[in-house]
Amino acid sequence: MDDSRETLGPNAFVTGFPIKHSRSPLIHGYWLKTLGLPGSYRAHEVAPDAFPDFIASLKDGSSDFIGGNVTIPHKELAFRLADKPDDLAHELGASNTLWLEDGLLHATNTDGRGFTANLDERHPGWDRHDTAVVFGAGGASRAIIQAVRDRGFKEIHVVNRTIERARELADRFGPRVRAHPVGALAEVMHGAGLFINTTSLGMDGEAAPSIDFAPLAADAVVTDIVYIPLKTPILRQAEEQGLSVVDGLGMLLHQAVPGFEKWFGKRPVVDAALRALIVADMEVH
Ligand code: ATR
Repeated sequence: MDDSRETLGPNAFVTGFPIKHSRSPLIHGYWLKTLGLPGSYRAHEVAPDAFPDFIASLKDGSSDFIGGNVTIPHKELAFRLADKPDDLAHELGASNTLWLEDGLLHATNTDGRGFTANLDERHPGWDRHDTAVVFGAGGASRAIIQAVRDRGFKEIHVVNRTIERARELADRFGPRVRAHPVGALAEVMHGAGLFINTTSLGMDGEAAPSIDFAPLAADAVVTDIVYIPLKTPILRQAEEQGLSVVDGLGMLLHQAVPGFEKWFGKRPVVDAALRALIVADMEVH
């Protein structure tokens, strides 16, 4: 039964270098199984110098894949090599989701949709204020800045240790996005309704700086894209200071939804059992 499902249905991949720690096979495998759909989703490691050939094999049909996810370090090249990147991928210059359609390789980026869907699910009303603060200006912050802007926030303050990187993002994402040094954090947090940590601070039990969240609006939401640990030091501090917090695991789960729907034809649901499955896996590894 399992064998026929794997050989008969569409095959999708997640590629990166390295890729063995990816939880995407667990997520998509859960949906394939619970929805009873044929097909497979597997980790497929590709070294950087082999990535163009891998994309070529997708396009000419010599691979058995119909599409897949792309992660570090291939997201930029995936965007450049795709035939039809959508507007989101164009603006980001990076793509995490590929699929073949009418003989062409399409590309998008679903991280921003994952971010907003997670907040919609866990804290409806998170978007009621005009001002957001994005802490960090690395690769992971881009899709979030784009998503927060497209959701309608009027002022998005990007605060980063290296101010030049924040400025690059302000230039890329338009006049609603402003760049600031870390010293300006308290000032730009004043009255803001959303605070997002996109830095690696607090990851894997590392220490994080202490942050005074008092300047935020009383009903502000604090979220973190780091999800190991689930309750990061930044979230813990925010909660202790009386703010609502949303962890980053749901972003990982929700960003997977659009790709699954493209490859396997059915829109999957992020449910409590899926979340529990990934939480349990995080405890083992
Ligand atoms: P990614 O692409 O995964 O976001 P990254 O590009 O290395 O990773 O970015 C990590 C983010 O965490 C950056 O905003 C980085 O700040 P710099 O741009 O100044 O490097 C931030 N970061 C990492 N360690 C930090 C630290 N100790 N203090 C302040 N910011 C830090």
